[in-house]
Amino acid sequence: MKPLLKWAGGKHKLAGRIDDAFGGRCGGTYVEPFVGSGAVFFHRRARGEVGEAVLADANDKLVALHVAIRDAVDDVLAELERLPVEDYREVYYEVREAFNAGPHTGPRHAARFLWLNRAGFNGLYRENRSGAYNVPVGRYAQVRMPDEAAFRGVSGLLQGTDLRVAGFVDTVRRAGRGDQVYCDPPYVPLTQSADFTAYCKVPFGLREQRELAREAQRAAFRGATVVLSNHDLPIVRHQLYSRADGFAVVETLPVGRAISRSVNSRKPILEVIARIGPLRQVA
Ligand SMILES: C[S@@+](CC[C@H](N)C(=O)[O-])C[C@H]1O[C@@H](n2cnc3c(N)ncnc32)[C@H](O)[C@@H]1O
Repeated sequence: MKPLLKWAGGKHKLAGRIDDAFGGRCGGTYVEPFVGSGAVFFHRRARGEVGEAVLADANDKLVALHVAIRDAVDDVLAELERLPVEDYREVYYEVREAFNAGPHTGPRHAARFLWLNRAGFNGLYRENRSGAYNVPVGRYAQVRMPDEAAFRGVSGLLQGTDLRVAGFVDTVRRAGRGDQVYCDPPYVPLTQSADFTAYCKVPFGLREQRELAREAQRAAFRGATVVLSNHDLPIVRHQLYSRADGFAVVETLPVGRAISRSVNSRKPILEVIARIGPLRQVA
């Protein structure tokens, strides 16, 4: 089941491989501290791999969108009817302003969020330091929304989930014995100046990456299985998710983007999927 949102770093295409990395169904609670568009959760729940689930993200507007789709999908669809498909460029900045003014909960908020995501430049989501969505208008012929069946399918998959606005530390700390955690943080940048990570006003740097690796290891010692993904960089393999700390690299996959290293060579960007736990404390 495809997510309703286009989301930078979204894992729709890799969801099957991430599912495999867990090695089986989740018998406890499935925990996603960086849920984003929900691609991995939707994939796993649609296959019956996941029952009870805690889905969290630091972006409050995003979590409110999932809540509205879970609890009031008819109202979201009705609100979307009020937004244009054809002459969207004329009203884009007006809708963006209304979205930023709030309120940031409920069906109207969710409809505006989805519409901006489909009408804005490249399906980007970016906030400035004050937390305002600031993506310019896109260049599409018209706004293409998923069909009603997709909305209802996603709403069905979200039923019974515990959706939370939270930083990753609080969420990972909820995981214990028998639980499965999938961590998909903003990528470690490929270069110092590259990469977009402004999903929300909270910055995510190397300090947070290290903190996440530490929390993943602690959850593993409590008896959870934690799968993480990130760019395949030496710092990720050898410092953040190192073998010495109990992590194992399960797979390396192309991300599907490429950067130019020189005029003639294009090197594919790789993504690493790592796993840790459950671990036993050595006495
Ligand atoms: C790579 S995206 C996750 C994509 C998701 N797996 C998907 O398939 O759509 C990273 C997510 O982390 C969230 N995020 C950034 N900083 C965070 C933090 N400190 N705690 C929790 N979530 C955070 C962002 O809002 C973003 O949705």
